[in-house]
Amino acid sequence: MTTRRLGDGPPKDLLDPAERMSLDELRATQLTRLRASLRHAYDNVEGYRRAWDAAGVAPQDLRSLDDLALFPFTTKEDLRSGYPFGRFAVPMERVRRVHASSGTTGQPTVVGYTEADLSMWADVMARSIRAAGGRPGHKVHVAYGYGLFTGGLGAHAGAERAGCVVIPVSSGMTARQVRLICDFQPEIIMVTPSYMLTIVDEFERQGIDPASTSLRVGVFGAEPWTEAMRTEIEARLDIHAVDIYGLSEVIGPGVAQECVESKDGLHVWEDHFYPEIVDPETGAVLPEGAEGELVFTSLTKEALPIVRYRTRDLTRLLPGTARPAFRRMEKITGRSDDMLIVRGVNVFPTQIEEILLRTEHVAPHFQLRLSLAGRLDQLEVIAEARTGTDAAQREAAEDAIAAAVKENIGIAVTARLAEPGTLERSVGKARRVLDER
Ligand code: DLL
Repeated sequence: MTTRRLGDGPPKDLLDPAERMSLDELRATQLTRLRASLRHAYDNVEGYRRAWDAAGVAPQDLRSLDDLALFPFTTKEDLRSGYPFGRFAVPMERVRRVHASSGTTGQPTVVGYTEADLSMWADVMARSIRAAGGRPGHKVHVAYGYGLFTGGLGAHAGAERAGCVVIPVSSGMTARQVRLICDFQPEIIMVTPSYMLTIVDEFERQGIDPASTSLRVGVFGAEPWTEAMRTEIEARLDIHAVDIYGLSEVIGPGVAQECVESKDGLHVWEDHFYPEIVDPETGAVLPEGAEGELVFTSLTKEALPIVRYRTRDLTRLLPGTARPAFRRMEKITGRSDDMLIVRGVNVFPTQIEEILLRTEHVAPHFQLRLSLAGRLDQLEVIAEARTGTDAAQREAAEDAIAAAVKENIGIAVTARLAEPGTLERSVGKARRVLDER
């Protein structure tokens, strides 16, 4: 392992000018852009105008970046209430594309892009791909879904902008994914981590060692995944696994990206997307380093300016490292609306993932089933056994999982190991929770 790896940061001449800004330059740029962005939102989107008038604030009240806290939050419900195009700030003649995020309930949220928005998005995606180790001439296998989901087309445009060769496979048809990786020899794959595991299983089913492929870097995102999952994926594929974050409402993938040379959290591309961390209960802005809900304000978007958008994603902000001016966000621990409350205890699927991945004989495919036993919540952790696990090993693993959940999270669960290959496989975002209450 490691000799054929590719894990250096980009040479200086491949960095965007923004990536070389000092902190003072970045803050000054942000303030100028934020003022313009608030003005644009207020003048052109009725939803913002109404909300800010009601709160008694106006764009000119922003004198420093901290004044952003005076402005009301925007929620997914606000965006949905304008379905489909009510939050657009430019006439349709200037919109070149729409995407939509489905979510689990209700109406999708529709987002729009002008030509300049698409170009900015390609720029931040190209920056992300370079931070992951991508260089001109590299072949990039895109297995994020193409369509209304932002993953496929976002990765596609960024890889082109970075001078890479795009292989636009989209998600699904797993046997074909394997064949194309073997035949086209890509250096980079962009895909959800859960679908990557499905592809790895398919390699093994076909008798091909997944560590023997041409792949050197995986750019994984669109769903929460843990350090333990990184270790698993890096070992099985002999690649660097780096994290990419984004959401449709803000632009799509490419809001924040982990650098391959440091793998210490995701640098937020703050020259376009201004992050805050707030207390999810009170909405108060929290200091750097505190955990809370991530909130974003776009600084340059035209078609859909977004101001103080509540992502529901939980993380914290840390100072920049590999790109010193850009703050990092820690890996997302979970979404406030994915959080299970089991007998009063908060549980995130990522906490269970950590435990499963360090338990012997357990494969990284799992589901959490919530039911009611009388009036009590009952959580069943169902994971797959690794191939070749015998009955005694399986029983020991089930006991170990239940004990570790009790010890680390503080709740009693039943753990069950299913036969290899029997749990639902994702081709996009994995569905971890079955709530039968
Ligand atoms: O998932 C955009 C994307 C595509 C990101 C491909 C990365 C790669 P949505 O469908 O709008 O957009 O979903 C956004 O997905 O609020 C998070 O809850 C979750 N998410 C995205 N990236 C990560 C990540 C795309 N790296 C929602 N870690 C976000 C954890 C993530 N969660």
